[in-house]
Amino acid sequence: MATDSYELSVLDVIEETADARSIVFEIPADAAEAFDYRPGQFLTLAVPSDLTGVAARCYSLSSTPGDDVLKVTVKRTADGYASNWICDNLRPGDTMRVLPPSGIFTPASLDADLLLFAGGSGITPIISITKAALSRGTGRVVLVYANRDERSVIFAEELRHLAEQYGDRLVVVHWLESVQGLPAPDQIRGIAAHFPTYDAFACGPAPFMKCVIGVLKELDFPRERRHQEKFVSLAGNPFGDVEEAAIAEAEVFEAEHEPDDAPAPEPQPQGAVHVEVDLDGTTYEFDDWPATKPLLDHLLAKGVPAPFSCREGNCSACAFRILEGEVKMEHNDILDDDDIADGIRLGCQAYPVTDTVKGTYS
Ligand SMILES: Cc1cc2nc3c(=O)[nH]c(=O)nc-3n(C[C@H](O)[C@H](O)[C@H](O)COP(=O)(O)OP(=O)(O)OC[C@H]3O[C@@H](n4cnc5c(N)ncnc54)[C@H](O)[C@@H]3O)c2cc1C
Ligand code: FES
Repeated sequence: MATDSYELSVLDVIEETADARSIVFEIPADAAEAFDYRPGQFLTLAVPSDLTGVAARCYSLSSTPGDDVLKVTVKRTADGYASNWICDNLRPGDTMRVLPPSGIFTPASLDADLLLFAGGSGITPIISITKAALSRGTGRVVLVYANRDERSVIFAEELRHLAEQYGDRLVVVHWLESVQGLPAPDQIRGIAAHFPTYDAFACGPAPFMKCVIGVLKELDFPRERRHQEKFVSLAGNPFGDVEEAAIAEAEVFEAEHEPDDAPAPEPQPQGAVHVEVDLDGTTYEFDDWPATKPLLDHLLAKGVPAPFSCREGNCSACAFRILEGEVKMEHNDILDDDDIADGIRLGCQAYPVTDTVKGTYS
């Protein structure tokens, strides 16, 4: 996965609902490979800001692999800066700086049967997965899509067409708060219990996700068949120069760990650490990972194209699985206890606590 940003041209801006716009980008001819993606992944946009220079925000791709354009769909957040800027300002012919696709909210196999839950703008990665599974896979897809009311349903027309085209494989359950109230655990359980072998994906507002994930846990959906994407805003700027940012972060880390009145340090390897990671079929091995540097920074400094976006522990683009040894994470806004128990760690936040660390990004 590439780590450079690219200037993409806006081909179209589509008004999806009163408060949601899709932005259609041209796939850059000289970087088509960097913009290959899996359904459910997201782009990171550099939204211009007089205040901070750039407000970096992630937006899931609502297009699907194989489309000849890239499309993201942005819903206005009340009092939000970037979402309103995008909806108010972007026009066809404009350009925008974008980081290539990232993220792990994507089915391992498009042939699996899928149980998809979307709330509001959470439909964005879910429709990409739906279209990919129907057009390229062989499984069945059940989509439960919750919205405030009929007028706020993004992609209503597209879903209708898909249901007509794939009537034998796709079931769409529309849930309107104006008619049925907010979905309650019993009601979600009543649906999910019929599909205990499906791969489940959920994306939407926090209470909706809490309800869905809680039910899936109760129904014993195993961790590898229970996926969620949290929509949070990045606080930092991942568009900066990687090396400089890595050095700055290492310095901050060191400053924050001055011995004086600092709490008792966690056990740390005495010398440099041996690290081995698998990424896209290649194993990278180094003997000089300093205990004061996050794994991501070390890999990038070595020229390894390790994935990342926010570099702050709140997007999961850098997630990998520990196979041997252990790391501690400085910050984690995105992984839940099950993820941690499952060995998932954030590369951008991972400092070694053992002399050897082995992991995989696959
Ligand atoms: C993986 C992922 C995928 C996502 N996919 C989608 C998607 O498909 N669709 C979607 O709609 N959302 C998506 N999101 C959410 C999206 O990234 C934003 O969090 C959302 O649009 C809200 O951003 P906002 O700036 O409008 O609101 P906020 O983040 O709430 O904006 C307020 C913040 O902006 C700051 N701010 C205020 N004024 C300025 C200024 N002038 N300059 C700079 N900063 C300022 C304030 O400090 C405040 O913190 C996704 C998030 C993630 C992590
Ligand atoms: S890059 Fe976003 S959590 Fe690590």
